[in-house]
Amino acid sequence: MCGIVGIINSNELKVKSLNILSKLEYRGYDSAGVSFLSNKKIKTITEVGKISKLSKSLTSTYDNFHSVIGHTRWATHGVVSKNNAHPFSDQKISLVCNGIIENYKDLQKKYLAHYKKNIESDVETVFLVLKELSKKINDKYKLIKKLKSILRGNYAFLIYFSDTEETYALKAGSPLSIGKKMNSVYFSSDPSALDEYIYEIYHLHDGDVLRVSKSEVSFLNNNKVKFLPYQQSTNKFSKGDFKHFMIKEIHEQPIVLKNTQKYYDKDYFVDFRDKLKDLLQESNSFVFVGCGTAYHACLTAKYYFEKFTSINVSCEYASELRYKNINNKNSKAIYIFISQSGETMDTLMALKYVKSKGFNSIVITNSLESTMVREANITLPTFAMKEIGVASTKAFTCQLLALANLCLEVGVINKNLNSKEYLKLKKDLRNIPSKLNKILKMDNYLDKIVNLLSSAKACYFIARNNVFPIALEGSLKLKEISYMHSEGFAGGEMKHGPIALIDKEVVSICLNPNNELFEKSNSNCEEILARGGKVIVFSSKTSGSKKNLFEVILPKETYIDAPFIYTMPLQLISYYYALNEGTDIDQPRNLAKSVTVE
Ligand code: F6R
Repeated sequence: MCGIVGIINSNELKVKSLNILSKLEYRGYDSAGVSFLSNKKIKTITEVGKISKLSKSLTSTYDNFHSVIGHTRWATHGVVSKNNAHPFSDQKISLVCNGIIENYKDLQKKYLAHYKKNIESDVETVFLVLKELSKKINDKYKLIKKLKSILRGNYAFLIYFSDTEETYALKAGSPLSIGKKMNSVYFSSDPSALDEYIYEIYHLHDGDVLRVSKSEVSFLNNNKVKFLPYQQSTNKFSKGDFKHFMIKEIHEQPIVLKNTQKYYDKDYFVDFRDKLKDLLQESNSFVFVGCGTAYHACLTAKYYFEKFTSINVSCEYASELRYKNINNKNSKAIYIFISQSGETMDTLMALKYVKSKGFNSIVITNSLESTMVREANITLPTFAMKEIGVASTKAFTCQLLALANLCLEVGVINKNLNSKEYLKLKKDLRNIPSKLNKILKMDNYLDKIVNLLSSAKACYFIARNNVFPIALEGSLKLKEISYMHSEGFAGGEMKHGPIALIDKEVVSICLNPNNELFEKSNSNCEEILARGGKVIVFSSKTSGSKKNLFEVILPKETYIDAPFIYTMPLQLISYYYALNEGTDIDQPRNLAKSVTVE
């Protein structure tokens, strides 16, 4: 993971680098550091913890320096410590890296055998190897080429040499963009962090090596590279009146879903439908691929497609798919990748793998500038706007909406849905924002649930059918931001093992839409109550039970909107419970927003 920044030949380096780094902080916040560079001098400052801590340590203005490289870390190899914080530097070289160097142990054996010190991190290894190589190779380009030839892994590096005052950028797998404005050059792992600083942009490709000397940029491996005009993103990095990004993003759902649906209601689909028709002519199945929350969107899509279309559907964790044999020549599956960031390494690698085997791919993403967009055959956007809170909320529901729309298109093309059914389902999708607004207004249940959770040792989420993936998502939200032990179960599975977990210190949250399975889920609740467990039910219909169960009555749902209606209250209870616990809600421990390592 991690985020890297470079600003070459500019001023106000302290303010600018801290500003860009704080926008990259979603990529990791274990430690941060900067190297200021000029006149053959390097000054490096690192801190364990967040950018705000680094900011306090940057006491001077650094006006005498013309360039800076910086880093915000999500620890992979080596503990969280000042020693493992980037940049790694001395008076001659400074470097920052996003990624993992897989063969670092081999590099240590080959180049650093004489080294007494225990080298914990892969990137420190690269730094020390580069120092060793520089003793024999004077020419900087040859040195970088040599370094590149011995590295195995996925990475993006910025490397500064003080004697020549050159900065080199290398990319293999991890994202890196370069932007320009007048005589200044900027690098960032995420181009949107450069918004206010650049006019032109180029997204480095794997294998690219760039040199920046003063303000001159040379592409050492590819002369045809062209900078393109940069369009500022409309994304805002502000919490507004909200205490955290997460709660702001939960509240934004009605509006971003409305915007996303508008897009899918427009003529755009005429175009897309033609492409989809072509794809479907040669395809007999869809495989949905994602990680974490995005995987829960995949699971929900499976229920939608099974209900409204006749196409075969399966779901894969991207991290598993990557290592599976998919050489089945008879299968003409279309792979559909779901990713908020469009940069998740497992998903990206799975996409590249599938592409290399000749399969067609569609990406559903919130980041239209991302690497996945550049790799896929077709992109379907979600318009959630920038999501900053590490726990995904509005991006998830926008993914569900894009998938629901895709499903209806397939249903029409495959003649599983007639136009009346199609229009009715589209109307249901358009009504979602108003139902979610109603849920946002009903806050009377939150305190009671926070209290129940406060005295519990674990919380289980139970549901059936198309809200079962929402139970998994509710559980993921709760555990990632409050650290409470939690799991999601399919209601019918409880009796096959999980019910053994139930006792009076456990809270079970049952999602029970008013459908043909309503009574079955009621029975699940009864079985839990009979064993002394506490039960909270979310439903649009009361169970009529007089027993010790707490009911929250939600707006009436339809099959297609139920996943949205049952998601939002779970996001809210996770948020308010975590608030009560005093955790770091927007940046929970051990996590990062964009998981760009394997
Ligand atoms: C959980 C969460 C993660 C992400 C996962 C995939 O709240 O945000 O589970 O969903 O890391 O990320 P993207 O969608 O960016 O590929």
